[in-house]
Amino acid sequence: MNKKLKIVIIEDEEAHFKLMEMAIVKNLPYASVSHFKDANACLEKLEEITPDIIITDYLLPGMNGIEFLKVLKRKNNQIPVIMITGQGDETIAVYSMKLGAWDYIVKSADFFVLLPSVVEQVVREWKLKESLQKSEKRFQVLSQQLMRIQEIERRRLSCDLHDYLAQDLSTLKIGIDTLIDNHTDTSVKMKQKVSELSGIVHKTIMDVREMAYCLRPSGLDKLGLVQTVFQYCEDFSVKNNIKVDFFSVGIDALELDFDTKIAIYRLIQEGLNNIKKHAEATHATVKLIASFPNIILRIEDNGKGFNIQKYSDSAINEKHMGLLSMEERACFLAGTMKIESCIRQGTKILIKIPCKELNDA
Ligand SMILES: Nc1ncnc2c1ncn2[C@@H]1O[C@H](COP(=O)(O)OP(=O)(O)O)[C@@H](O)[C@H]1O
Ligand SMILES: [Mg+2]
Repeated sequence: MNKKLKIVIIEDEEAHFKLMEMAIVKNLPYASVSHFKDANACLEKLEEITPDIIITDYLLPGMNGIEFLKVLKRKNNQIPVIMITGQGDETIAVYSMKLGAWDYIVKSADFFVLLPSVVEQVVREWKLKESLQKSEKRFQVLSQQLMRIQEIERRRLSCDLHDYLAQDLSTLKIGIDTLIDNHTDTSVKMKQKVSELSGIVHKTIMDVREMAYCLRPSGLDKLGLVQTVFQYCEDFSVKNNIKVDFFSVGIDALELDFDTKIAIYRLIQEGLNNIKKHAEATHATVKLIASFPNIILRIEDNGKGFNIQKYSDSAINEKHMGLLSMEERACFLAGTMKIESCIRQGTKILIKIPCKELNDA
């Protein structure tokens, strides 16, 4: 069964209200109509009535329709409003729309015919907007949940690699190293082979440890965010032959929770990864600054840059998820991300995250 559609009409002329009510009830039998003669009286009852839609005349005693819209906007009240204007009042209609009105109707000969269809149209659009907002919210919750699960899974994998695989490989290496200890008759060739195998196992242990560290940088707990990022930037420079300057101010004085620390670390990881993969840069800068009430993260390079518009249009289809996941992470921390890029002039990523410490509620 359809839920009753609650309509509020603000109209100071009783006769005009009655005609409007008739037109609505006749065409929209599932609607209930409440009447106010002025906007102030309506505002007083708004929370009690919780209408689905408000239809207001522009010319009203006391507060006019535009002032009424301004009050709703100040209160961040999103109820859809239809403004009724006199003939020739187009400027008022335009101004109303700018202030967030959903539609307007001019008092003309076919006003009472138009009214129910405009109401229906606004309700349809409103429902669409609501369901879009719900889907967006759901998507956001899901992707944030996914990021949490991903971190948990990475942590599990990292522990397994470190505690089991690396340990077993270490035992294997000791076994290989001591294999020929008590055999005096071993040939030089055999000794060489054993030493080679030991070398391979040693390298594998190092690789496994590196993988475990990448999956879950344990330094975040032990050394803190700044030192861990500093170390990461140093390693990145050496491995990729791209000079990375890392500056940080005031971060270690903050008591950040693990979610925030790992998200900032991943943002830097993904930002630098893109520089390595795409930028053809020789120099990158990472700045991590506590600038109350925000944490500012800037990742810049002097590389070839890219066309942001072209990227945004094709990102999802072409499965470019790096920048998207950076945006999601920034959003996860209630922050924002801005990309600036010019062909041959490098790329700048600016992330602003509200400073939320562990002991904040
Ligand atoms: N620092 C950068 N310099 C130049 N191009 C970049 C940079 N970062 C991202 N891009 C461009 O944006 C695209 C999308 O990046 P991203 O979302 O991380 O996906 P992916 O790295 O998988 O291609 C890249 O394919 C690249 O063309
Ligand atoms: Mg990428």
